[in-house]
Amino acid sequence: MAKFKGKTAIVTGAASGIGKALAEQLAKKGAHVVLADIQFEEAEKVAAAIRSAGGSAESSFLDVTDAEEFRSLVEETAAARGRLDYLFNNAGIAVVGPAEDFSLEDWNRTIDVNIRGVVHGVHAALPVMLRQRDGHIVNTASLAGLIPSPSLAAYSMSKHAVVGLSVSLRAEVAGRGVRVSAICPGFVNTAILTDSKRVTVDAEYTEPAFRVAISPEEAARQTLRGVSRNEPTILVTGHARMASLTHRLIPAVTHAVARGAARRLKRTEE
Ligand code: NAI
Repeated sequence: MAKFKGKTAIVTGAASGIGKALAEQLAKKGAHVVLADIQFEEAEKVAAAIRSAGGSAESSFLDVTDAEEFRSLVEETAAARGRLDYLFNNAGIAVVGPAEDFSLEDWNRTIDVNIRGVVHGVHAALPVMLRQRDGHIVNTASLAGLIPSPSLAAYSMSKHAVVGLSVSLRAEVAGRGVRVSAICPGFVNTAILTDSKRVTVDAEYTEPAFRVAISPEEAARQTLRGVSRNEPTILVTGHARMASLTHRLIPAVTHAVARGAARRLKRTEE
C-alpha cells in the first residue's frame, strides 16, 4: 500500500459512493488526489474535508462524456504535478428495466458515460503514462460486466465493454511500464442503487441488492488492495467473487439464475 504515497491520482465520479471512498483512502495513503465529477460542489466538499484531515486533494468539474475537457484535466494535472500515476475511470450511471422499454436516449446515455467516458480517459492518459513508462489505469466495470444481468442490458453491455478494453489494453502495454486493471464490484451501497433511473420496473425488484450490498468504504479497500497487487480483474464483494467463479465453471447456473431474476421483473404498469 506504500505504492500510493506521493503519487498523483485522478478519480472520476469522486463526489459520491465508491469514487468518494477511493479518493479519501488514496489521500490517507499519501497520494495527491484530483476529484473530478459533474457534481462539482459535492466533489469540492469531499476535497475540502480531505484537506482539513491533512491530506492533499483538489476538485475539478468534469463531464467524462466531453473528450476535450477530459484531455485538459489529464494534461493540466500531469503538467502541474510533473506526472500522473493513477487514473481511476470510476464515473458511471445505470438504467434499470426491461430492455424493450428503454428509450434510445437510455441506451445512448449509458454508452456515452460508461463506455465513451472511459475511452476518453484512456485516450488522454495513455500517452502521458507511456511517456513516463509508468502509470496505472483503473477502470470501474462491474460484476454485470462478467455475467448475464437481466434488467441491466444497457449497463451490462457497457461494463462488458470496459472489461474487454481493460484486459486487452493491459496485455498490449504490459511491457511498457503501464498497468491496466478492471474493477468488478457486486452490489455496493451507493446512490446508483437508490437513485438510478428505473424504467417500468418497481423498487421491489432491486430490493434484494441491498441485502448483500457492502459499504463504499469496504469496496474502496478491496479495490486498492487489488490495485496495489496489480490484479487484472479486481472482484469486489464476496458475492461477486462467487458469481464470477460459478459463471466460469458452470455457466448454466448463472444463466438459470438470470432467467429467474428476469421472471421477477415486474412491470409497474401491470
Ligand atoms: P454513485 O452514483 O454514488 O457515484 C457515481 C458518480 O459518478 C457520481 O458522483 C456522479 O455525479 C458521477 N458521474 C455520473 N455521470 C458523470 C459524468 N458524465 N461525468 C463525471 N461524473 C459523472 O455510484 P457508485 O456506485 O459509486 O458508482 C461508481 C462506479 O461503480 C460506477 O461506474 C458504477 O457503475 C460502478 N459500480 C457500482 C456498483 C454498485 O453496486 N454501487 C456495482 C458495480 C459497479
